[in-house]
Parts: sequence; structure tokens; C-alpha cells
Amino acid sequence: MNHIDQAANALRKGELVIFPTETVYGLGANALSAAAVRQVYSVKGRPASSPLIIHCPDLSAVRRWCGEWPESAQRLAEKFWPGPLTLVLPKKADIVDEATSGLGTVGVRVPSHPVALEFLRKAGVPVAAPSANPFTRLSPTRVEHVREVFGARVRWILDGGPSAVGIESTVISLVGPRPRLLRPGMVSLRQLEEVIGPIDLQMLAQEEPHASPGLHKAHYQPRTPVVLYQRGKEMPARGRGISLLLTNSVPGESRLMPNDPMEYARELYAVLHELDVKKFDWIAIELPPETAEWEGILDRLTKAAAPNRTDHDVR
Ligand code: TXA
Ligand code: MG
Repeated sequence: MNHIDQAANALRKGELVIFPTETVYGLGANALSAAAVRQVYSVKGRPASSPLIIHCPDLSAVRRWCGEWPESAQRLAEKFWPGPLTLVLPKKADIVDEATSGLGTVGVRVPSHPVALEFLRKAGVPVAAPSANPFTRLSPTRVEHVREVFGARVRWILDGGPSAVGIESTVISLVGPRPRLLRPGMVSLRQLEEVIGPIDLQMLAQEEPHASPGLHKAHYQPRTPVVLYQRGKEMPARGRGISLLLTNSVPGESRLMPNDPMEYARELYAVLHELDVKKFDWIAIELPPETAEWEGILDRLTKAAAPNRTDHDVR
């Protein structure tokens, strides 16, 4: 048996497995086992009120766990799966309530990473997995990121190399009168609307704090304070910092980021993980253009720079 077979068997029996996806690494548990899913929350330090995404190897597997499968779901699935899009739909009872925070809905996704697909196929059960990072911290896009934090606590870690997309999936709810965008990502709102028509934007986080953890303002944060700035504006003056640039040079230490949004997303978390251990006083990030291709990145940057950093070092 190879490592993926062994990990798949272990997962079926209730153990946790960290596996690569094209977006970020996931911390997976058998979504049919309440005990297994509870371990995800305790290892991650995540509040039970934040639902998990269920990962499946193909469309027919996904449909088994959804209570309804509207035409819009079929169209989006055909267009974007396997890939970085999560659909929220009514759930079947077999998915344990622990995985969905007791909600009557379930987030489902078919990832495109070949290791993820082989693992999911071999597991033969739906896999509930959040990003494999401690709650509110940066998501992992390299196997080293998960080894550092969870190596001692999670026995099964599948190495799939660097994540090709690099930020978490776009999440859209198909429950309710109109589709709603719950979390922007590299599949843009415009791309989704081309397939299913108008989509509502989620209200601000305060109104529905636990409906979607992707909505928590302080999320995806490095320890080092992040500030966003517009090109040509003043940089933070105090202490020692570094700027992530898209275009022009600024005084002090800086790093040029890719101008292409796909490449930028692929690099972003790895760069932040790397800079975070260098103990800068701040990381200043040049704001990207306000176009559809950048909306997922802009969302993560805004959350990385969110002022609410209170629960930051709580593990
Ligand atoms: O790219 C990704 O989505 C990664 C990889 C591992 O698949 N996973 C991920 O999981 O980012 P997590 O748990 O960090 O984020 C899950 C997002 C949250 O914004 C959550 O609120 C939303 O999906 N979500 C999941 N189930 C939901 C539900 N039933 N209703 C509303 N939102 C849901
Ligand atoms: Mg996450």
C-alpha cells in the first residue's frame, strides 16, 4: 500500500489527514463521523460555529450529500469543477451536524489537485476539511507550512507540492431566493454571473458573524501587522518593515510581487509565511487594481490588515 492508500484508510477509520488541494492544504476528517470531525475543531482551535467544506472526488459523489441539486449547481459544477469553487446547498442527514455547525446546509467542493482526487477516491467517504491552519491564521500553501504547525499532532500529511491557486476557494450559497457570494476567490463574481445570472453580495460580517468564517474580519492574518497602501502614498515610518510591491519602488526594504493575479495568489501566503518569521514591525502591501481578477486577493489582503487582532495568538 502506498502512502495515499494508508492515509485514506486511516481517514475512513476516524483519523485526521492533511492533504494538498490546488487552493490551500486541508485538514481532513471523515464527514460521516462526529468524533473525527470534532478532532478537526480541537486541533485547529476553531469555534464549533464555523462550518466545514465537504470534499468529494467527483460530481456524482457530491450529489449524494446534497438534499437538493438545482440547475444552477449543475451549471456551476460543470463549468468550474474540479476547481476552486465551493457551493453551499441543503444537506443530507448523513453528513454529521458537527461538520456543518448544525446548519441545514453544506458547503461542497471537488478539488482539482491530483493527490487530493486520488486520496478522496480511495477514502470513499466525504471528507470535511477546513484549511490546515490554526484558526484566524494564514492558510498553508506549502507542505512545510503544515508540518511546522501540525507535524506533531497529525500523523498523516500528504505532500502535494506548492498549491497552484494559493488562496481559498470562492464560496457561493445557492440556498435562498437568490445566489449569494459568501467568500470571493480566484473564480470571480463576474465569471459566476456569466453562468447563472445575478448574484447577491453577502452583507457585512457583523450581521451574521458565524454564518461563514470566511466573513470574520480578522482572518488569514500573519502575526506581523499588515498595512495596505495605495501606490504613491506615504509608507508607515516607524520601526523596521518591508513593502510588497506591484509597481514602483519605495524607500526601504521591499519585495516585488507578480503583476499577474494568478501568480500573485500563488505566491501570497508563502511570502507572508516567510516574512512573518523575520520579525518585521510591519508589512506594507501595495493595493492591487480593483478588477474582477484581483477581487479574491483584495479580500484576503483586507482581512490580513483588519484591525481586530485580538484572538490572534490564542491557540
Ligand atoms: O479552498 C478551500 O476552500 C479550502 C480547501 C481546503 O478546500 N478550505 C477552506 O476551508 O478554506 P475553511 O474551513 O477555511 O473555509 C470554509 C468556508 C468558510 O468561509 C465557511 O463559512 C464556508 O466555507 N462554508 C462552509 N460550509 C458552509 C455552510 N454550510 N454555509 C455557509 N458557509 C459555509
Ligand atoms: Mg480557513
